[in-house]
This record gives sequence, C-alpha cells and structure tokens, in this order.
Amino acid sequence: MSTEKFDLLNERNRKAEEGGGAKRIEAQHKKGKLSARERIELLLDKGTFQEIGKFVQHRSVDFGLGDQKYLGDGVVTGYGLVNGRLIYVFSQDFTVMGGSLGEAYAQKIFKIMDLAMQNGVPLVGLNDSGGARIQEGVVSLAGYADIFYKNTLSSGVIPQLSAIMGPCAGGAVYSPALTDFITMVEGTSYMFVTGPNVVKTVTHEEVSSEELGGAETHASKSGVTHFTASTDLECIELLKKQLSYIPQNCEERAPQLPYDAGNEKRPSLDHIIPANAQQPYDMKQVISQITDADSFLEVHKGFAQNIIVGFGRLAGKSVGIVANNPQHLAGVLDINSSLKAGRFVRFCDSFNIPLIVLVDVPGFLPGTDQEWNGIISNGAKLLYAFSEATVPRVTVITRKAYGGAYDVMNSKHIGADMNFAWPSAEIAVMGAKGAAEIIFKKEISEAADSEKQWKEKEKEYNDKFANPYIAAERGYVDEVILPSQTREKLIITLEMLKNKVAKLPKKKHGNIPL
Ligand code: HXC
Repeated sequence: MSTEKFDLLNERNRKAEEGGGAKRIEAQHKKGKLSARERIELLLDKGTFQEIGKFVQHRSVDFGLGDQKYLGDGVVTGYGLVNGRLIYVFSQDFTVMGGSLGEAYAQKIFKIMDLAMQNGVPLVGLNDSGGARIQEGVVSLAGYADIFYKNTLSSGVIPQLSAIMGPCAGGAVYSPALTDFITMVEGTSYMFVTGPNVVKTVTHEEVSSEELGGAETHASKSGVTHFTASTDLECIELLKKQLSYIPQNCEERAPQLPYDAGNEKRPSLDHIIPANAQQPYDMKQVISQITDADSFLEVHKGFAQNIIVGFGRLAGKSVGIVANNPQHLAGVLDINSSLKAGRFVRFCDSFNIPLIVLVDVPGFLPGTDQEWNGIISNGAKLLYAFSEATVPRVTVITRKAYGGAYDVMNSKHIGADMNFAWPSAEIAVMGAKGAAEIIFKKEISEAADSEKQWKEKEKEYNDKFANPYIAAERGYVDEVILPSQTREKLIITLEMLKNKVAKLPKKKHGNIPL
C-alpha cells in the first residue's frame, strides 16, 4: 500500500485528536479545565482506550455549519478499562462548537449507550457542553430525547455515572439527572434548566450562574449532585472510586477486595452512646468502626445531613449504608432525607449491594413546612424503597427507634432479614416525655405536684419501653448485641445471607409514590 494512504490516515487521526485546536485547548486549560481527551486518558488504564466514530462529522449546512466541520463532531466516544474493568465513556469536547450536541454527535453517544447496555457494562458521561447545537434545530432536540430514552431504558440494567465538568444547561441537564450518580467540579461547572438571564426576565431575581446551579448549590440545596470535586483530576479519581464499589450490571455482584480476617471486635463502640439519651454522638464514627478501614465513601455528603448514606466494605465486600445522624436535627426523618435515602436504597437494590441500616431516629419532623410540602408522600418513598428491596438487609438499632420512623427504617416488618439492637436501644411509639404527657394527662393534671407526677410517669414509661427487650421478645429484634460485637455480627450475617433469593410479586412495575 502506498505511504500516502498511511499518511492520509495519520493526518486524519491528528486532526481528530486536536479537537477545536491548540488555542481553544489552551483556553480550556486557562479556565482550569482539561480537554475531552485528557479526561479520558486520566480515567482509563493506560493504553486501553478504544475510540469509536473518530471521523464522524455532521452533515448540516444551515447558519454556516457547512464550513464548521470537525472530525469527531465534538464528542469523543469509546471504551476502555478502569482498574482492569471495562467501561464505555463519552467525553464532550467544549473546544468544538462549545461541545454542543447535534445529530451526528448524538448518534455517537447512542452507539456506545446501546453497546454498554447490550454488553452489561457501566457508562460514564463526561459533560462539558453548551447544550443543543443551535444551528441544527430540532434534530438536536431529538438527539437529546433519544439519549434520555436510552438513559431510562439502561436504568437499573447498567450503572450510569455522570461528571459535570463545564456548562450543562437547559434540557441537557436531564440526561445526567436520569443517571445514577452525578459528580460536579467546583467553580467550573454548573447545571440549570434556565440560566440567570431568563431567571431575571421571568422572576426579576438576580443570581449568578454559580449561585443558581454551581456545585455547592446542588450539593447542599437541591441535592442534584451526589459528589463534588475541586478539580477535574479529583473528579476523575472520584468516578473511579465510585466504580470500585459497584458491579458491571444488575446480574453481577460488585468486585470483592482481598481481606485478611482479624480481630473484628471494636471495643470503642461500647462507649459511644452518651449516658444522656438527648445527647448526640458521631454516627460516622460508628460507620468507620464497623466498615473496613478507610472504605466509607459518603454520597450526598452536604445534602439532608440528618441521614448519612454511602458505600463501604465489610470484609472486602461492598455494602450500602443508611444511617440516621443524631448530630443533625437529632437524626429526624424529613422530606429531603427520605428522598436521599430512598434513592440510594433503590440504587443498591438494583445492583445487588446489601444494605446495612443504622437506626437512631426520634421520628418524622413535625411542622407545616413538612406537611405542606408532602412529608406524607415523600416519607412513603423511603418506606416503599426499603419494602421492595430484595438484597440482604440488616438493621442495627443503636438508640432511638420511635414511631413510624421505626417501621420505615428497615424494620423486620417491611422485609429486613436480620435486626439487631444495642442494649441502649429504645423502641417505642414516641419519647417518654411526650408519651407520659398524653397517656397520663389526667393523673398529671390532678396531682398535687404535677411536675413530680410527670417525671414519675415518664420514668415508668421509660422503664417499660426504653429498651430493646419487648421487641426482642416478639422477634422484631433478632438479637440484642454489644456495640463492640457489631462488625463481627454484620460480617457473619452477610455471609449467611449471601445467597439470598427473594422475588417481588409478578407485576409490570410498582407505583412508587413519586
Ligand atoms: C452552537 C455553541 C453553543 C450551542 C456554545 N457554542 N454553545 N454553538 N450551539 N448551544 C459555541 C459558541 O458560539 C462559541 O463558538 C463556542 O461554542 C464557545 O462558546 P462561548 O460562548 O465563546 O464560550 P463561553 O463564553 O465559555 O460560554 C459558554 C456558554 C455559552 C455559557 C455555554 O456558549 C452559551 O450560553 N451557549 C448557549 C447555551 C444555550 O442556550 N444552549 C441551548 C440550551 S437549550 P465560537 O466559534 O464563537 O468560538 C438546550 C436544549 C436541550 O440545550 C434540549 C433537550 C430537551
């Protein structure tokens, strides 16, 4: 074959790889952002990237597009290995027409989405785009809609991770929103349905892009993003970490790390519950004691902090942890914490990750704000998510398990497999003070010293119910254990449950109270 033919190929490859050109890549670097290809290089194991559709170009001619053609059309797509495991990836190239999405670009993404689903492999999307390619009109909108549809069909079949590493605005936000986890880069990324200009016109509010839809906003106020990273590099490392806890698809189990069994007793946990039941303590400390060293990856760290969710490992195996947080709003359940935990539970259940639930919950948050915004239907989401989960589910009640929240937090009654309680557990309809006030109202009001009477009745109620033994007598709690034994018990229990088979009744799909 003539060398000119090789030269032509080499030249085309070179052209495709330069994206929008050196100047635009430099501008990207100046903003603190990496290029689309640099991101892929960092994400994948060295030398494993196989590109698909490198020479694809659009065929549009309107509004000068006929003169703006780039090999690859502004998105780099393909597959490769992350720590030896296959993933499919697309990386939007902001240096080519602002990474905007047109017909050919969208078709490149569909191709890898189809391959990812057919082959049971995770899909990672690196987003950095001005949205629908304005010059291409409705075909760009159609491209987005097709991606949304494929995101939805893939949901629960393969894990889908999104990184937001630049603009993500308008309807474009809905593709990441349909995926399992979003990670946003601080300072250089934003997500909103309508930007600050439209907001100003319609509502007269003045707000910056960062305030409206930056990483911090979505991590703490809206809960749209599950993770934030301070740089592109940190974001990529975080994506790799997320992948390490999850299986390739819904038929598989998450990878297991080697683990040398040792002394699994954790004596410090015997001292963690304060003598005064109203005092908070650090539930993250409990989590770090019961999971393998440094294995806890918190999800939604800054959002609805009254509940803690995240991945961890127990004897090398992935688990999902859901825990009330007594240090924030006393660990009460509210709308946001129900949404946060409900979604996490469903992810774990979709991908065969057992659930460990640590309970210290005083109930649901009272008030008009909660009632008017739908704590009933939102709290029901968490109840539903736990009830339909068929993965191994283990509960440890560390202290309070009051009222409806006791039922919701993975109680035996809604299908948990093993329920443990610490001796400090209090399983009751409500706290002793409130309970005494209601059921002994007459005695208290008629007593010569009503304060003293109230205290006595409170003690009576406490003596009867502020313990785990009545629940244990009924079998609602399988075993009362010392806190120091918790890790050991969980490891043994998950081993016992590892071949659990549980099926939901045949149905098209349930109707979770959305
Ligand atoms: C075509 C686009 C584009 C777009 C940016 N560019 N967005 N080209 N379609 N959507 C081009 C610019 O013309 C410019 O080309 C280059 O990309 C870089 O853009 P700049 O504006 O110079 O960059 P910057 O100042 O960093 O601003 C980035 C930006 C801005 C904030 C994203 O470009 C912007 O506001 N773009 C439009 C965003 C938008 O409204 N998109 C449609 C959203 S609606 P040159 O050649 O001059 O360098 C949507 C609907 C999805 O996406 C529908 C799903 C249902």
